[in-house]
Amino acid sequence: MTVLSNKKILFIICGGISAYKSLETIRLFKKNNAEIKTILTKSAKEFVTPLSIASLSQGKVYEDLFSVENENEMDHISLSRWADLIIVVPATANTISKLSQGSSEDLASTVILASNKQTFLVPAMNVRMWEHKSTKDNLKKLKSFGYKTIGPVIGDMACGEYGEGKMSDPLIILNEINNFFLYQKKHKKIKALVTAGPTKEYIDPVRFISNKSSGKQGYEIAKSLSKRGFETTLITGPTNLDIGDEINLIKVETAEEMFKATQESLPVDIAIFSAAVADFRVNKKDTNKIKKQDKLTLNLEKNIDILNYVSNHNSMRPKLVIGFAAETNDIDKNARLKLENKNCDWIIANDVSKKDSGFESDYNEVIVYYKNKKNNKEKLAFKKKSEISEEIVDRIINQIN
Ligand code: PMT
Repeated sequence: MTVLSNKKILFIICGGISAYKSLETIRLFKKNNAEIKTILTKSAKEFVTPLSIASLSQGKVYEDLFSVENENEMDHISLSRWADLIIVVPATANTISKLSQGSSEDLASTVILASNKQTFLVPAMNVRMWEHKSTKDNLKKLKSFGYKTIGPVIGDMACGEYGEGKMSDPLIILNEINNFFLYQKKHKKIKALVTAGPTKEYIDPVRFISNKSSGKQGYEIAKSLSKRGFETTLITGPTNLDIGDEINLIKVETAEEMFKATQESLPVDIAIFSAAVADFRVNKKDTNKIKKQDKLTLNLEKNIDILNYVSNHNSMRPKLVIGFAAETNDIDKNARLKLENKNCDWIIANDVSKKDSGFESDYNEVIVYYKNKKNNKEKLAFKKKSEISEEIVDRIINQIN
């Protein structure tokens, strides 16, 4: 048994001189008992043959998007669902460019676009192409979508030039994928809970008090945790977002419902509170729609602080409790106060007075405050929320290891 035993790997081979190395890569994966299917792009067939791949992988080789034979057996959606992981090897500059645009012009790009699995790109190209700003920008974009890369390395190239752009060695590729699955296995028994989105506090059956939270930051954290193998539960207030089947999704509306769902999800090992929970609810919600009147006085009462409840739990306090702090001023002072008063291990503070980060935006800029670390403050640069989430999860993994 190896960590790759029975893992379903979808290889996508693109047209580049390094395509010949994909044969050795497939041989190594097969030797480690992986189950392999392969998609060959049109130009890849100029470099390797379907027959050689089928012999080495002992699996089906797909070529065309609209092949009747393939449609009967497995369409592009089923193929993307079948895979535990996708490897694009070699990932040419052209493929990287197409993927960054969300293209779906052939079977390979369609399957990747339809996939919710981890995709690894193994770039290989001429050094100038690799160093070109457009390739760098395309890769940056793909990484922000969650794609991972292996290599390239520096060395002599088929074109006679020397530099960075050479495809990683098949053994290195095998090692990286092994590590990915090892981490997944290691984290499988670790339970993580994330709260996200706003809450709605009803005034009457049709009106409510809420806030601008879109849920994006919390959803991205849940996705990053799940991708790294954590058993993830996401408790979310109302949002327009979707999330994969791997995540245990609990939808709530009010702070009271969020609290109840959190209580029922305990115990967990890690809890991250990114939801913007309303601090108050209407004392007595009207059962009928309130009629128009000159003046309306609302009587508000305090909602329970969910984070506080969990971080001070006698028997079920998670090993790592992470709160968020949405601040418009005195960030440093307020975040440190929340770290202390809410008994958190970390507080992740964001400035929500800015337009291009914090609430609703796809981007954020956060400062992590640590309780028990010498260097107790760390700023993460302005980035996509998906990238910030990856960085937060990197730090969670470091901490629990
Ligand atoms: O959802 P997005 O549009 O992506 O925006 C992301 C975000 C700005 C909402 C997010 O990054 C963020 O800052 N979330 C926390 C928002 C917030 O309510 O902060 P707070 O400072 O009021 O609360 C501090 C902490 O206590 C938070 O972890 C909050 O989840 C928690 N809390 C607060 C009140 C309450 N009743 N229960 C809680 O658990």
